Amino acid sequence: MTGPANVLTDRLQRALGAAFGPEHAGTDPVLRPSQFADYQANVALALAKRLGSNPRAVAEALVEHLDVADVCVAPVVSGPGFVNLTLRGDWLAERTTALAGDGRLGVPTQAEQVVPIDYSAPNVAKEMHVGHLRTTVVGDALARTLEHLGHRVVRQNHIGDWGTPFGMLIEHLLDVGEGSAEAEALVDDPNTFYQAARAKFDASSPDEQESFATRSRRRVVALQAGDPDTLRLWQELIDLSTSYFNSIYSALDVTLTDADLAGESTYNDELAGICDELEAAGIATMSEGALCVFLDGHTGREGRPVPLIIRKSDGGYGYATTDLATIRHRVRDLHADRILYVIGAPQHLHLQMVFETARRAGWLPDEVEVVHVRIGNVLGPDGKILRTRSGAPVRLRALLDEAVERAAAVLADAQPTLSEEDRKVIAHQVGIGAVKYADLSVAHDSEYTFDLDRMVSPTGNTGPYLQYAAARIRSILRKAGSTPDRPILQTEPAERDLMLTLLGFGDVVAGVGASLEPHRLCTYLFDLAQTFTAFYDRCPVLKAPDEDVRGSRLRLCGVTLAVLEQGLALLGITAPERM
Ligand code: ARG
Repeated sequence: MTGPANVLTDRLQRALGAAFGPEHAGTDPVLRPSQFADYQANVALALAKRLGSNPRAVAEALVEHLDVADVCVAPVVSGPGFVNLTLRGDWLAERTTALAGDGRLGVPTQAEQVVPIDYSAPNVAKEMHVGHLRTTVVGDALARTLEHLGHRVVRQNHIGDWGTPFGMLIEHLLDVGEGSAEAEALVDDPNTFYQAARAKFDASSPDEQESFATRSRRRVVALQAGDPDTLRLWQELIDLSTSYFNSIYSALDVTLTDADLAGESTYNDELAGICDELEAAGIATMSEGALCVFLDGHTGREGRPVPLIIRKSDGGYGYATTDLATIRHRVRDLHADRILYVIGAPQHLHLQMVFETARRAGWLPDEVEVVHVRIGNVLGPDGKILRTRSGAPVRLRALLDEAVERAAAVLADAQPTLSEEDRKVIAHQVGIGAVKYADLSVAHDSEYTFDLDRMVSPTGNTGPYLQYAAARIRSILRKAGSTPDRPILQTEPAERDLMLTLLGFGDVVAGVGASLEPHRLCTYLFDLAQTFTAFYDRCPVLKAPDEDVRGSRLRLCGVTLAVLEQGLALLGITAPERM
């Protein structure tokens, strides 16, 4: 099933071919929503220029060849050469009846692509911050959407589980004792552990034989050399942190599991080879003791080229080398067709350089698409990156708890009769849904201000508003008892608007898969909820004038609910039973 816009595009293109020759059959008909009809096709204006003829005459020739009698009322040429198209009510009704019986609700199943998605990627023994929250939520929505469109998504959680801080973290673990309360605190308050290790490190002298700093440095060497005891302690830290990540993922209802962990350390054995290969190919060169890749067009201050450092002068490998290994692995071993890196916008230059280097090295063939899905910063009320008053990173767990509490308060006002147990479940769904929706409903690359009051508000373009819309339809359907399988009819203009919106769902989901912009689905669902409200205000459902109309309207309610639920599910948001 495809939506009305697609059907019309197809017909218009056939008419363009028939009227102006087959070379025009692929021309974009420039279909847009119109004030005077459902759509207007504006192609005649540009085409007339190309053909050296009059736009109105082109529009008229187009209409003459346009075969849409089954779909539209007679097309009208207006203004300088717009073609106004108004869908037939019976066609819309028939299509919407088919939609009601379509398990996929008009969403196409596309030819399968393998799509590794790099998202979430928090750091071991550190607090996840709101930036990680956003890459997690956006990445998960993209994973769900692409899977639903028929693709094989391979989740890759590139956790930060390697590097020099592990020397001090392991020494601190030994100091506090494995299994101690301080160590176990990594599971719900990792920052306290990290800060304690950091403070000791900064306070101790690197020149003293047995100082913390000296021990930490020795520990890094042992870790890199693969010392079994050190590796065991390192694994202990990973396990504790993984429990922390998992508790956040489960609170967030995110689809990531341990099987998706593919942290930086996974690539350790590849890094030397990566460097050798790039050096042998002449892509990397030595500069001031470091092995670097210089790329055209990447210049910094004074026009000096910015290097991508792949081996530091002390012989260590860095973030860039590991990311080169991720690309090679995802293409060579996972057989990726399209690779997504859902990562903060500030890392754009880094990723562009990594992508370009991988292309030059032949690890990223032209036919494999790679995209940096840029995630904008989340700001505090002061317009700066969100932090607590003391300057520490905000505890994500506390933030989520607060969202749930606020949702519970809003709910207590709106639904005083709910049982304690129901309230708990629903408050969780609403609080978490509110936070996730706020992350998803703005363009992923723009910044936004974290404002819990706005997020949990039951009005406006918020998660709770959409959840409430779904719950209200559920309650209508409950009151109706059974919903007979009646054909959908068009008796009022408000029904028509709702049908037109419902029929657009499949195209919107496919569009999110192509553009990787979940906020388009949010905008659509918000529009759908508002269109439904207008319908419900004007068209009595339970007290419809007769059985046929009642059956039709109940069915319209049913499809609207199905689309709302499916849309929210693709965003990773649960619609509560009642609200
Ligand atoms: N751990 C990194 C951070 O917290 C993000 C890693 C993103 N993924 C990647 N392949 N570079 O900033």
